[in-house]
Amino acid sequence: MAETLTVTDNRTGNNYEVEMDHGMIRARDLRQIRDGADKFGLMSYDPGFDNTASCKSAITELDGERGILRYRGYPIEQLAEKSTFLEVAYLLVHGDLPTKPQLTSWVHNVMHHTSLHENTKKFMEGFHYDAHPMGMLISTVSALSTFYPDSKNVDDYETRMLQVYRLIGKITTIASYTYRNSMGYPYIYPDTNLTYTGNFLNMMYRMSEPRYQPEPVLEHALDVLFILHADHEQNCSTNTMRNIGSTKADPYVAVAGAAAALSGPLHGGANEEVLRMLNEIGTVNAVPDYIKRVKSGEMRLMGFGHRVYKNYDPRAKIIKQTAYQVFEVTGKNPLIDVALELERIALEDEYFVQRKLYPNVDFYSGLIYEAMEFPTRIFTALFAIPRTAGWVAQWMEQVTDSEQKIARPRQDYIGSDKREFVPLEARSS
Ligand code: CMC
Repeated sequence: MAETLTVTDNRTGNNYEVEMDHGMIRARDLRQIRDGADKFGLMSYDPGFDNTASCKSAITELDGERGILRYRGYPIEQLAEKSTFLEVAYLLVHGDLPTKPQLTSWVHNVMHHTSLHENTKKFMEGFHYDAHPMGMLISTVSALSTFYPDSKNVDDYETRMLQVYRLIGKITTIASYTYRNSMGYPYIYPDTNLTYTGNFLNMMYRMSEPRYQPEPVLEHALDVLFILHADHEQNCSTNTMRNIGSTKADPYVAVAGAAAALSGPLHGGANEEVLRMLNEIGTVNAVPDYIKRVKSGEMRLMGFGHRVYKNYDPRAKIIKQTAYQVFEVTGKNPLIDVALELERIALEDEYFVQRKLYPNVDFYSGLIYEAMEFPTRIFTALFAIPRTAGWVAQWMEQVTDSEQKIARPRQDYIGSDKREFVPLEARSS
């Protein structure tokens, strides 16, 4: 027998029985609760979707209270240790780890689609040297929609898969060209004999050498970071991807919208802000004063807190370990001491303890990126690359979910009642 919830409407004394499924009720079922035949019926009010599930998903499982993150059932710790980013991208999109032939074909298809149409390069050349990488990335991904009009056929599986390869492939090229463009360096063509991450480093850093060989520890560390950032269930950018996808728009404009959501400082833009914050603090001695300013409400501690995690973000734990592996090659980033002291004090402080604020994925990632000589401005683009795999996986799931419809929330209208139009000359100041 189905579990149910009984609701008493104290305005009318009427009782209603509402079915529960997976610990949820359907918001639609509230509509029957009304205090008059001509009334609209009860709605739920949930700014920021704090307590609203918008879909059923089999991709990422997140238990914020227990600090658990799994992709398709596999713990993030195991994937980070034993897998590669492209293998994880396959897992997200297809639901299972690939066999050897499946992986070979997937890697071939993604790497084969890393090149950009020459006109896309020209499009990117139009940006000013100081354009923000996320602005360039968002616009260029959106422009891909005009290069691939076939992508509008979103109801066809083969067409969708082609866009998945193109998007996961080209996002590294676009991200690296945002950097080359800002430096005035020539664009570097993809080297499909390298790994996904190795090729990205090639497109970022190759200068006059005939072939670029990525440093293996750094290549691996970046791959781990990409795995950790690949998906995170219904976060703001993924929700944007699904919102746009719900209109059957093509996936390029949807990924552009998702990337725009990611660029905000409360979301993916936080990694950039963390580094600015650590630089501003500068020394371990200055940490207590900074914490005081945060507690007084002057600013937020960037890289801390999460809507869903009320425990240590498991990704932050892995990133912290990875940081030390990277520092063995690059030398220690001195800001790590400031970060460790911030974390130490915050985790003991009543303000942070009470609000369950822990370091999130963005707290330590910037230190690694900086040690690897990525400019701070490109950090959020480094988040957008792997998250593209998550966005397209969620989109693939959405378009075949028969329960999904165009996203269209309700509102509580609080504006004026009906009033008569007043001609311009009759309006008082
Ligand atoms: N520093 C100081 N106080 C904070 C912080 C912070 N980083 N985060 C939350 N709080 C306080 C907030 O002021 C509020 O206190 P009070 O109850 O006294 O008003 C309480 O904690 C709850 O905050 P909230 O804003 O209701 O929490 P939320 O779930 O809406 O926000 C968040 C989540 C991630 C936007 C927020 O924690 C934040 O702004 N963090 C800093 C930015 C950041 O690191 N973002 C990256 C998130 S992880 C990666 C990603 O999603 O891209």
